[in-house]
Amino acid sequence: MINLTTPAYVLNNEILEKSINDIKDSLFNNFKHSILSYSLKTNSLPYILNKVMEKNGYAEVVSKDEYELAKLVGFDISNIVYNGPLKSKETFLEAIIGGAIVNIETKNEIEWLRELPRGKIFTIGIRVNIDLAVISPEDSKLDEDYSRFGFSVESGEFKEAIDKINTHKNIKLSGLHAHRTTLTRSILAYSKICEYIGKIANEYHLDLDYIDIGGGYYGIMENKPTFNEYFSSIAKKLELYFDLNKTTVVIEPGNAIVASCLDFITSVIDVKKIRDFHVVTIDGSRNDIDPFYKKNNYSYSLLSSNNAVSAFVNTQIVAGGTCLEYDKLFKIDNKQLLSVGDKIIFRSVGAYTMTLSPLFIRFFPSVYLLKDGQYSLIRKNWIAKDFFNIYDTVNL
Ligand SMILES: Cc1ncc(COP(=O)(O)O)c(C=O)c1O
Repeated sequence: MINLTTPAYVLNNEILEKSINDIKDSLFNNFKHSILSYSLKTNSLPYILNKVMEKNGYAEVVSKDEYELAKLVGFDISNIVYNGPLKSKETFLEAIIGGAIVNIETKNEIEWLRELPRGKIFTIGIRVNIDLAVISPEDSKLDEDYSRFGFSVESGEFKEAIDKINTHKNIKLSGLHAHRTTLTRSILAYSKICEYIGKIANEYHLDLDYIDIGGGYYGIMENKPTFNEYFSSIAKKLELYFDLNKTTVVIEPGNAIVASCLDFITSVIDVKKIRDFHVVTIDGSRNDIDPFYKKNNYSYSLLSSNNAVSAFVNTQIVAGGTCLEYDKLFKIDNKQLLSVGDKIIFRSVGAYTMTLSPLFIRFFPSVYLLKDGQYSLIRKNWIAKDFFNIYDTVNL
């Protein structure tokens, strides 16, 4: 590992496979019919997408671009779950005709249904607005207790939407989508959401083929719910309202599949004394592992580059290599002073990092695959030429 060019992400194949397999096994043990649909937005590295496809998973996409990417990777249209407000009309209609699971998110999409060919029945789903302030306030962030997504039962727009959909003789409303990442990712929150959609299905006499519970699960982590605990509790609640011998349960995990299979390896490039502390600058940035700048602790390990014993110092502040003053990561108290060339490896940083990394100051870092004890390069770091070549240089 010491010889890898840094900064770089390292994808651990074994952990990736274990996460997918564990989820699939738990689904199989709890539901007669289920679909694992991987949320592309969480990390769209083609290697990961390919692995999900190899294991018969679906691709959950939320834009025309993600939809096209899933097709490029090789997902059959019928193995795509298409969500979100960023669908194009063309891909929306193509997906429905091709047998994808398409969950309606916007009013425009309901209008587009008119353009589907007559003489054949097409199926669609609809996203229900999950207002945690109503359903489960203890699982919501203060400023995000309501959701921007889905059609609200409480405001009356859900009923309006299904009434409009039902005017189309060639459309069957066959699914409800209820994704809501909660603050706590708790089992109880899923139970309450399942109860809520069960009651809606009853109230509106919906004859459903699938229930899409969405993502938001913890990965394989100590002291957190296991996949089996999540799915057994979801099954228990859903079977009160649905015949699970017939109804398919769709899940859309992202974090649970990729969070723990990716590390980020960086090197110390400078050590300076300022006031009475040291600033240790690395060749990675907070942008690479915490693009929301919200984390207040990091799981990391330190790897010394030489055997020399350095002095203990009171405080070291580890900072990113960008020119942003606030690109600071963490503090080390009462430890040996780090030296240029030492490595800092940040653990479990696969979710919402690579897809959100900006092209700021330094372009995309390399990605290595760790498989059977060997490292191989699966994405070469972007250099200036890669950046420059995406522009129409003829017109410069
Ligand atoms: C519709 C939908 N499904 C699935 C996910 C994946 O969530 P997570 O990565 O927390 O599992 C998201 C995340 O925002 C989402 O918006």
